[in-house]
Amino acid sequence: MAQRVAVSDGANKKVSRVWVAVRLRPYMGTQDEKDEGSCVRGLDSKNLEIINWRNATETVKYSFDVFHGEQTTQQEVFLSVKPILPHILTGQNASVFAYGPTGAGKTHTMMGSSNQPGVIPRAVREVFKMVNAKNEDEGWDYSIGMSYLEIYNEKVLDLLSPGSQDLPIREDKDKNILIPGLTHTTITSFSDFDKHFVPASLNRTTASTKINQRSSRSHAVLLLKVVRTQHAPPHRQQTGKLYLIDLAGSEDNRRTGNQGIRLKESGAINLSLFTLSKVVDSLNSSTAVRVPYRDSKLTRLLQDSLGGSAHSVMITNIAPEYKFYFDTFGALNFASKSKLIVNKPFICETVAVAVPALPVKRARNGQEAGRSGPSHRRRGRGTRRKPNRMVPRFRPIYTVRQNRQ
Ligand SMILES: Nc1ncnc2c1ncn2[C@@H]1O[C@H](COP(=O)(O)OP(=O)(O)OP(=O)(O)O)[C@@H](O)[C@H]1O
Ligand SMILES: [Mg+2]
Repeated sequence: MAQRVAVSDGANKKVSRVWVAVRLRPYMGTQDEKDEGSCVRGLDSKNLEIINWRNATETVKYSFDVFHGEQTTQQEVFLSVKPILPHILTGQNASVFAYGPTGAGKTHTMMGSSNQPGVIPRAVREVFKMVNAKNEDEGWDYSIGMSYLEIYNEKVLDLLSPGSQDLPIREDKDKNILIPGLTHTTITSFSDFDKHFVPASLNRTTASTKINQRSSRSHAVLLLKVVRTQHAPPHRQQTGKLYLIDLAGSEDNRRTGNQGIRLKESGAINLSLFTLSKVVDSLNSSTAVRVPYRDSKLTRLLQDSLGGSAHSVMITNIAPEYKFYFDTFGALNFASKSKLIVNKPFICETVAVAVPALPVKRARNGQEAGRSGPSHRRRGRGTRRKPNRMVPRFRPIYTVRQNRQ
């Protein structure tokens, strides 16, 4: 198994941290039965504000690496992710995850649709583009493989092999996270990827709730592994992993109307997202002795891709309608914590016996990922203040904290 090799930064002590993007989905009248308008307002490319629940005449301002407003296209969101991709061609890990309340646009952001492809198809296309642009003279062969799984009710299920049982998550002696038995398919082009990805996505567990007609009931994790092998002795081999994750949404069951099985799913979803937030807290705290990765399958799986070894981008999706106010508030506070995580990149390298990796076909198929479709109607961009409605119906569990830059 590949060993971790520390990256030497030389004099330049560069460390990478989680890059935090916030995306506000367009206002939807259907999500605003009381016609209360929007409680979120974008200020510029980094800053946004929401109404302060304590005082309707004030707003709380947040600052992130990038703020994507309602009119942002899928391609513009992808540009926040693109800079981390070259790392996986040199044996480092990277991860992108979409976080946020149910109905806020995580699946739209990560998966998208055929005419508005999301981060996952765009990132895979870009990885193939980078590999195909590599010059033979550099002396490396590249091989790309994919796995695709969902975590549903704390069970790890193989989306490329439907009907499979709950799979175990293991760690090897070099602290790489592995899932024995998970299908890993070599892919040679973007269209090859699509051939596996599209039908497998239909195997994912979704259901209709009051908030989202097609709500993701599981966390979906696409793993893209790039192995490069040196032609000449000592045949160094480097393995880089890219995790692309569409999380299930955090849910307030007073609003989703969940009962029975939906309520059980919701419990598992909220618990694993709560653990994710505890992991983020521990990573940020200089005094925490233990990072509780093992407390949920999701965080166990992300162990080698969040906080320590990987280049990470978190896209926090939020919704503008007033009924999402406390969800938005919680998601923004969670996102501002994540911004403080500092990751240390590593290269995953081994000296291999001379078994050349299957070279990637230098396919020219597949066109450029399309731009997004027509822009959405502009509505509710301004903050509408209705003091009478500002009286909170329940106490928020978060305290207001301005985000540190
Ligand atoms: N940026 C956007 N532009 C247009 N439509 C969007 C956008 N974001 C989300 N939507 C639409 O909003 C609805 C809910 O989005 P989506 O299913 O992506 O939410 P989600 O965060 O994945 O929710 P859940 O946690 O329940 O799975 C969908 O109909 C989706 O097409
Ligand atoms: Mg979803």
